[in-house]
Amino acid sequence: LLFESDFYIITMRMKKITVNLKERSYPIFIGEKLETLGGYLKKRFGPAKVFVVTNPKIKKLYFARLNQGLKKNGFEVSAGVMPDGERFKTLETVKKLYGLALKARLERNSIVIALGGGVAGDVAGFFAATYLRGLPLVQAPTTLLAMVDSSVGGKTGVDLAQGKNLVGAFYQPKAVWIDPSTLKTLPKRHVTNGMAEIIKYGIIKDKGFFELLEKNLDPVKEISPKVFEKMILGSCKIKAAVVSKDEREEKGLREILNFGHTFGHAIETLGNYKRFLHGEAVSMGMSIAARMAVRLGLLDGASLERIENLIEKIGLPSQVPQDIDPDRVFEVMGRDKKVRNGKARFVLPTDIGKVVIKSL
Ligand SMILES: NC(=O)c1ccc[n+]([C@@H]2O[C@H](COP(=O)([O-])OP(=O)(O)OC[C@H]3O[C@@H](n4cnc5c(N)ncnc54)[C@H](O)[C@@H]3O)[C@@H](O)[C@H]2O)c1
Ligand SMILES: [Zn+2]
Repeated sequence: LLFESDFYIITMRMKKITVNLKERSYPIFIGEKLETLGGYLKKRFGPAKVFVVTNPKIKKLYFARLNQGLKKNGFEVSAGVMPDGERFKTLETVKKLYGLALKARLERNSIVIALGGGVAGDVAGFFAATYLRGLPLVQAPTTLLAMVDSSVGGKTGVDLAQGKNLVGAFYQPKAVWIDPSTLKTLPKRHVTNGMAEIIKYGIIKDKGFFELLEKNLDPVKEISPKVFEKMILGSCKIKAAVVSKDEREEKGLREILNFGHTFGHAIETLGNYKRFLHGEAVSMGMSIAARMAVRLGLLDGASLERIENLIEKIGLPSQVPQDIDPDRVFEVMGRDKKVRNGKARFVLPTDIGKVVIKSL
């Protein structure tokens, strides 16, 4: 069993998880330091130029720590700084990065490091996928969401005015380097935001992991670094296993990662992408999906209650605010790009740790 029996033994002893994609396989390192990435890159790639894609806020907080290790190992480093925020996840930003890359005289073997949250990661990934037809990419995520979700799996891209993530490429990194100490400066709302995806992994694939969350998450106490590390390990292990089996979402397996997302995206749209963070919308989406599963006789009421309790305990919303009409959620959902042949596809839980996909 990939997910359960060997899971805890591996997470307790190892801090490295592999995404298995034949010649494109790559490691996810968890609990490493930004300072030591340079040493790893030197061993693996030898001398090269390094281009760090980041934003001003993260640059100020963490660039020096990363750069120190890179410099020590002889890398010639330049920074591709983009403005902070989802609204800069655009082709214009990527174009500006191409300009900076030309100035830095990047070559085919130059290494791109994405230092930041999901926005920096998606933009850096798309930049790396396209500049000179592809440069080696390393993800160094600094938000919880990026650590457990966006940095793993190779989805890269930008938004168009007409919608999110409409342009992009599947482009796997060469490594993912997770330094959980960077979470110390992450605003609480963004920490909570990342927790939504962590809960999602428990619901879709691993009851034991869900129970670990139930036991370890205390809304009053601060989450300890050790618990963070465990949660990141557990999440990456599940995402890595799913991506290893269905890289491009073609076999109906990777689709389970969209649990709560079909409703979630509609809720994000209704909030004009300002009112709710992604994880908040996904939390409401997961409860809607779970309630729908109960109505269809797929899930028992006690499991629904556990799901909603955990979401609430973490400080995420399980109910859509009163002023949003539930019918509008379904209406907007009909326009989602994940609708296939006019039918909406729902990922629905049948138990904690198990989901099915239904076309309705
Ligand atoms: N590629 C994928 O598979 C995938 C999956 C999920 C989400 N995403 C994308 O990820 C994006 C959201 O990512 P996000 O939630 O990380 O948002 P984000 O990248 O905008 O980061 C959130 C905020 O936190 C700041 N920040 C980052 N790290 C920090 C730190 N350590 N300390 C203090 N502040 C810090 C950022 O500057 C930003 O202001 C969306 O664009 C979404 O589409 C992609
Ligand atoms: Zn998500």
